[in-house]
Amino acid sequence: ERIVVAVDGPSGSGKSTVSRRLAAAIGGVYLDTGAMYRAVTWAVLEAGADLADPDGITKVALSTDLSIGTDPAAPHIAANGTNVDQPIRGPEVTGAVSAVAAVPAVRRHLVARQQAIIAGQPRIVVEGRDIAGVVAPDADLKVYLTASAAARAARRSTEDATDTAATEADLARRDKLDSSRAADPLRQADDAVEVDTTGMSIDEVVTRLSDLLKS
Ligand code: CDP
Repeated sequence: ERIVVAVDGPSGSGKSTVSRRLAAAIGGVYLDTGAMYRAVTWAVLEAGADLADPDGITKVALSTDLSIGTDPAAPHIAANGTNVDQPIRGPEVTGAVSAVAAVPAVRRHLVARQQAIIAGQPRIVVEGRDIAGVVAPDADLKVYLTASAAARAARRSTEDATDTAATEADLARRDKLDSSRAADPLRQADDAVEVDTTGMSIDEVVTRLSDLLKS
């Protein structure tokens, strides 16, 4: 039986770990759409394009060759033949990604690519911000993971080894940019099940989602 799971939510909500674990549990693959926006952002910075010029950003985005590995045990991404798993998590890309993701032509391009990947897979967990609403509106399960701002910042700063207060400020900045942009602002889909992961362990969240998938 074909299974598509959409996992949306803000940064630090536990999306990535939980999505990878769920993908492995159902014998499926894992697609990190945020990594695609980050890889295009890496290419935009590499090309020296102006972040205030949507046409310039679009040109780079459309000409970037993305190669995406969807194994939940070892997801990876390359842009124009360069593995960018490390640099896409760095502060330069994190600081610029919301601007790149706000360009409508970039979103259309990446959404089409994401839909093609989904169509070619019998079982897939897709993680992002607009999966339930835009990328996979027919998903079998749509989850919106949330957590308190403090819990999100604490998780992310542990991953990044950065200061919690600075991380909380950066997450708030990106949430605001992502949810207030003119084109296709990010928000929770009406039919998504909200799961607040504050105080829940990863195992508990994965179990919860597996149960939702069975019901
Ligand atoms: O996990 P984290 O929040 O750090 O970010 P991510 O999932 O890697 O996504 C990075 C950025 O890409 C987000 O802040 C959004 O600006 C953008 N994004 C998006 O617009 N749509 C998606 N489906 C996924 C990410």
